[in-house]
Amino acid sequence: MKKSRLAILASGSGSNAEAIMLWAQKSDLADVVCVISNKKQARVLERARDLNVAAEFVSKKLTDSKDDYDKKLLERLKKYQPDWIVLAGYMRLLTAEFLNHYPNKVINIHPSLLPLFPGTDGYGEAFQAKVHVSGCTIHYVDEGVDTGKIIAQKEFPLSPADTLEDFKKRGLAVENQFYPEVIEKLLRGQL
Ligand code: GRF
Repeated sequence: MKKSRLAILASGSGSNAEAIMLWAQKSDLADVVCVISNKKQARVLERARDLNVAAEFVSKKLTDSKDDYDKKLLERLKKYQPDWIVLAGYMRLLTAEFLNHYPNKVINIHPSLLPLFPGTDGYGEAFQAKVHVSGCTIHYVDEGVDTGKIIAQKEFPLSPADTLEDFKKRGLAVENQFYPEVIEKLLRGQL
């Protein structure tokens, strides 16, 4: 079977991106063909370079609209011919035009059990709400904020003794394991 070509979009540290790159390097299902960031200094770009994966920064001019930026992104992605777009801590919403280029092929990981706590602070909000169980969600991406169809979820506990830092650390470790597992199942047509 032909390997799927994954392009990762990320804005930050990139622990999920790294987990996916490491998984792909051992897998016969996928190649990570590039990591693209909207942040020049994002650690994710270093992590990609360290693993010999093409790492690119796509800059946003002050005058760029959302549409302008996503057009640049599409242009940059063209040369990599990705089959899937994998968001991993990518802190921008995607336009309809972008999504139409990759129908049902853009996925994201979110650090809560959606539809609870969408937005930029899933861990913080779940912690504040003193839930006993939280988790992460992998979902298809639409134009909304974490509103796309859910693919898979994984729960993990939040104990009363946890600090927010403990909780985030535990959560990220779960995410880093779960994201590649779910991608593998998706590519095998098991989800
Ligand atoms: C993760 O918590 C992910 O769920 C959220 O952003 C964070 C990214 O972490 N969307 P990392 O950059 O992959 O370490």
